[in-house]
Amino acid sequence: MCGIIGVIGKEDPVHALLDGLKNLEYRGYDSAGLALKNYYQIQVIKSVGKIANLEEKVSDTSLIPAFLGIAHTRWATHGSPSEVNAHPHTSGKVTLVHNGIIENAKEIKERLVQEGISFVSDTDTEVAAALINFYYEKDAIQAIDLALNDIVGSYAFLILFADSNQLYALRKDSPLVVGVSDHGNFVASDIVAIASWTRQYFLLEEGEIAVLSDSRVDVFRDGKTVEKNILTLDQNDGDSSKGQYEHYMLKEIMEEPMVIEKTLNSILDHLDTFSDLTQYEQIHIVACGSAMYAGMIGKSLLEEYASFPVICEVASEYRYKNILYDRKTLVILISQSGETADTIAAMRKAKDASVDTLAIVNVKTSTLARESDRQIFIEAGPEVAVATTKAYILQVFVLALLSYQTAVSKGMVHDSSVLVEARKLPQMISEVLNRRDEYIKIAEKIYSQENIFFIGRKIDYAISLEGSLKLKEVSYIHSEAYQAGELKHGTISLIHEGMPLIAILTQEDILKKTLANLEEAKSRGAMTIVVSNQSIPFYDMEILVPKVNAFLQPILVVPCLQLLAYEVAKMRGCDIDKPRNLAKSVTVE
Ligand code: F6R
Repeated sequence: MCGIIGVIGKEDPVHALLDGLKNLEYRGYDSAGLALKNYYQIQVIKSVGKIANLEEKVSDTSLIPAFLGIAHTRWATHGSPSEVNAHPHTSGKVTLVHNGIIENAKEIKERLVQEGISFVSDTDTEVAAALINFYYEKDAIQAIDLALNDIVGSYAFLILFADSNQLYALRKDSPLVVGVSDHGNFVASDIVAIASWTRQYFLLEEGEIAVLSDSRVDVFRDGKTVEKNILTLDQNDGDSSKGQYEHYMLKEIMEEPMVIEKTLNSILDHLDTFSDLTQYEQIHIVACGSAMYAGMIGKSLLEEYASFPVICEVASEYRYKNILYDRKTLVILISQSGETADTIAAMRKAKDASVDTLAIVNVKTSTLARESDRQIFIEAGPEVAVATTKAYILQVFVLALLSYQTAVSKGMVHDSSVLVEARKLPQMISEVLNRRDEYIKIAEKIYSQENIFFIGRKIDYAISLEGSLKLKEVSYIHSEAYQAGELKHGTISLIHEGMPLIAILTQEDILKKTLANLEEAKSRGAMTIVVSNQSIPFYDMEILVPKVNAFLQPILVVPCLQLLAYEVAKMRGCDIDKPRNLAKSVTVE
């Protein structure tokens, strides 16, 4: 959600800024802008819509020679997506870009208006610029500190002062990574924005201020210098190219066999140490969106096969509820980005209650990874498409192994076939993905529909939720998932002739029950599509997936649904990798 990049001391800052913004596009945005600076002046250029529009504007503008620049992609929160609301914002000597939300912007603005300060935009960011400028006399850090005393909210700021040749960076609840090199220094909200310029970096912590100049970077906390440990980016981290694929979503789905293998190799050796949950009496799984739906599969598996009581809750609800903990509660947080504001708040709530926290997370440098007590890393690599695919599959995979190991520890499962079959998963997923033609044929039948429903029971219902979310977010077709048995308690009235109903049927014990519900819908005209691990005749269309151990079965079903959503969205001409209104990393609540 919003992307930030700053560059100092590099020969061609404009190129680096635009390149960085493109690598941050996945975060979601509706306008973009940049500011360039030399010893005498600051030049600001902004545009609404795609970065290509900003690029065009930049090439039509006579640019000042600059050694310093900041740039931003904005996802509108305060004020509509417009040029005037786009960042950077300037007030007096201060020009800045900002990720996050300043919650008390209205009060601060009223105060500053009384001081005779005027505003041009509707944004909370301009208020921050005005506040820092209000406090600024000569000492930049002092002005920033004074402003921070007044500000309530979340932020990552990059700040320029008209009479300083340095770049100031600071953060709270929004990440910033600082890249260092002998051909310039960099700062961005994600390492992918600067990985093509430097592989040496450090993470800026809350409470620190980084001061970047062309030849050095200093970090201060409470007026004292902080020594930072410089890290080196792994070879593969930060590789976010699309390769031969038309879309990132497709590339990332096709990477699923590879990332399953990588994750399995990284966790298999210490499976029993991380997954012995038997010391706890209850588990809370907390996450948002798809990560929460992955959690629902984990809940079903733990309840069904390890008889473990599990609460699975959306983080935005959990954080504000009266949660009853006891000392034997474990809170599992699931997140691809590790920066989702609500999930982080849920983790902090659990920590405040002195309850153990375990994060299942992809980004190793993220806030969730750093603040949780224990971590299991999924090895998805960079996920660029806004709709998660490979990270979701890995979250389910890790939860399946956790549940399996717990069931073994509790003496409820004795055979090791799960681990044997886990080794075969990459090959099996590849088989499922290779049947793209079948999904295209189904997509052709359903892509022009306005409503598509999914049904399932237990784990199949949790799978349905993800199938439905994937479809609606990338294709904009209205879709809902229902527990199959609930259909006739109201929703069946929406079924009409030709309306697609996708049923997930992978559990033998309740197969007949769901089939009966499907029959009810079929007899009312629904176009029935069955996704199953056994052939079920008499329905309009069928997707057959290989049958595996119940712990692993969802991992073979969801890739079909992801590809189906992809093909439908493609036929409808949607912006698949960046669906409207969505952001990859939801850093505000
Ligand atoms: C849907 C999707 C979102 C995320 C959710 C949580 O395709 O990607 O629902 O799953 O925003 O994000 P993370 O996993 O980064 O916490």
